[in-house]
Amino acid sequence: MSAQNGSKQFEARLGEIAALTETLLDRLLAPAPVAGERARPARLLEAMRYASLGGGKRFRPFLVVESAALFDVPEDRSLMAGAALECIHCYSLVHDDLPAMDNDDLRRGRPTLHRAYDEATGILAGDSLLTFAFDILGRPETHPDPAVRIALVLELARAAGLGGMAGGQMLDLAAEGRFDAAPTPLDLAAVQELQAMKTGALLRYGCTAGALLGGADTAQLQALTRFGAIIGEAFQIADDLLDVEGDAATVGKATGKDADAHKATAVGILGVAKAREKLLHLVDEAEQTLAPFGKHADVLKAAARFVAERRA
Ligand code: IPE
Ligand code: IPE
Ligand code: MG
Ligand code: MG
Ligand code: MG
Repeated sequence: MSAQNGSKQFEARLGEIAALTETLLDRLLAPAPVAGERARPARLLEAMRYASLGGGKRFRPFLVVESAALFDVPEDRSLMAGAALECIHCYSLVHDDLPAMDNDDLRRGRPTLHRAYDEATGILAGDSLLTFAFDILGRPETHPDPAVRIALVLELARAAGLGGMAGGQMLDLAAEGRFDAAPTPLDLAAVQELQAMKTGALLRYGCTAGALLGGADTAQLQALTRFGAIIGEAFQIADDLLDVEGDAATVGKATGKDADAHKATAVGILGVAKAREKLLHLVDEAEQTLAPFGKHADVLKAAARFVAERRA
């Protein structure tokens, strides 16, 4: 397949998976309580729906579904795992935007959740989306084998928590100098570590989850996990470039904030031109990682290009 066909096919798949994820989340976040729940308080449910429906690229569910597709996993299963990951992602955005964190007013082209509602509702909607992810993974519809479900849960807990996204967010704020008199200048290796945690861990999980759903062998699991980690690194560099070069109307969130906030970014250390070079290198590396899967992985390879070239 030519690179151009690959990217067309990628766009079509991203669109399809986004639509299916939207439908699934809409169904999962219905007003009626499920077994074990007493009630679904309307304001909290509405806020969870605000945070998770009607926006976002759905790139993480795409990674789950397309990684799983390498092993012919039925899509209704991989979409469940993708929806779980998207819940964690949406929660991370809600909390990231809070005044105590990045203090943002615009997200996905709309007011941030705490702006549309209030801070307490934002905190609780985040808590509930985080927990809901594990509810989704625990359901037999995600995978009939409980051992696979436990593996999915364990990996997601580790990707999202202390040693993953939440830990990375802590390092991100610490580097700004929030807890000290002044920002702590980080070297490139320390920034890469921070970004591998705050952003890389969830993207990497997307690919790992696909492999776990598909019963991949060790080499396949390692290759996909490595691909996800590289994509994750590239994704945050692209995000940091958009903060410098993008405009809010296109990106759907405020730009031009990271330098003023003394955020530790690869772009801040390398400069725009070198960061862009690094990004292209990462795309090549990501593509090479998928070589063992041959043509079956063309859509995932095109996804790597998308990460580097995206404008939103
Ligand atoms: C934004 O993620 C936050 C980062 C980790 C860089 P996305 O760019 O995937 O945001 P949505 O989901 O498309 O809104
Ligand atoms: C986000 O990093 C990482 C998360 C875990 C949400 P950013 O703070 O750069 O993400 P945006 O730019 O607000 O989307
Ligand atoms: Mg942040
Ligand atoms: Mg932010
Ligand atoms: Mg950013």
